[in-house]
Amino acid sequence: MAGIDSLQSLFEDELKDIYDAEKQITKALPKMIKKAGAEELKAAFEEHLQQTQQHIERLEQVFELLEMPARGKKCVGMQNLIKEGQEMMSEAEDEDTLDALMIAAAQKIEHYEIAAYGTLRVWSNLMGHEDAASLLEETLDEEKETDSKLTEIAESFVNREAADTEDEEEEAPPSSRRGTQTRGARGGASTSRQQAADRGGARRNR
Ligand SMILES: [Fe+2]
Ligand SMILES: [Fe+2]
Repeated sequence: MAGIDSLQSLFEDELKDIYDAEKQITKALPKMIKKAGAEELKAAFEEHLQQTQQHIERLEQVFELLEMPARGKKCVGMQNLIKEGQEMMSEAEDEDTLDALMIAAAQKIEHYEIAAYGTLRVWSNLMGHEDAASLLEETLDEEKETDSKLTEIAESFVNREAADTEDEEEEAPPSSRRGTQTRGARGGASTSRQQAADRGGARRNR
């Protein structure tokens, strides 16, 4: 049947695409871990790097279930998301802005993955590959959890800023930004994070 045949080939194509995308992510994440200023962001990236290795293993299991060779096909979408993220990161003028930009870039990547795994799971079920579908769903759930966690981290920056509006006009000197773990100092840094992010956005939009 032509319909099933074409769905099968679309599915295979999408599987190779996300396999390559995951491999690109394992190369991009270590740089983001190294650059993350906030400890919770660093930890979230570290955890997701480990999960990403599992995503690759799960995809290899899916290839095996479908009796396909585990082979990727250059994922141009992920390549460009990573490239855009790196360009944004290179424009950051301080560590707080960099954290905000990395959260934004990482969430775009997560949303790409969520769309890809959601599609693959549906197609997998349509073709009667329930065991492959449940592996894809496990990964899909982890991508969604990561996305939520990144939202929480982004919101916690904003909350700390709100809790410390008295310091709004004070810019912490750059040397005090990294490793300032006291609540007040961190809140001040977060304020400048937001201000710097705003300035960065305005500059890029010109
Ligand atoms: Fe993934
Ligand atoms: Fe991911």
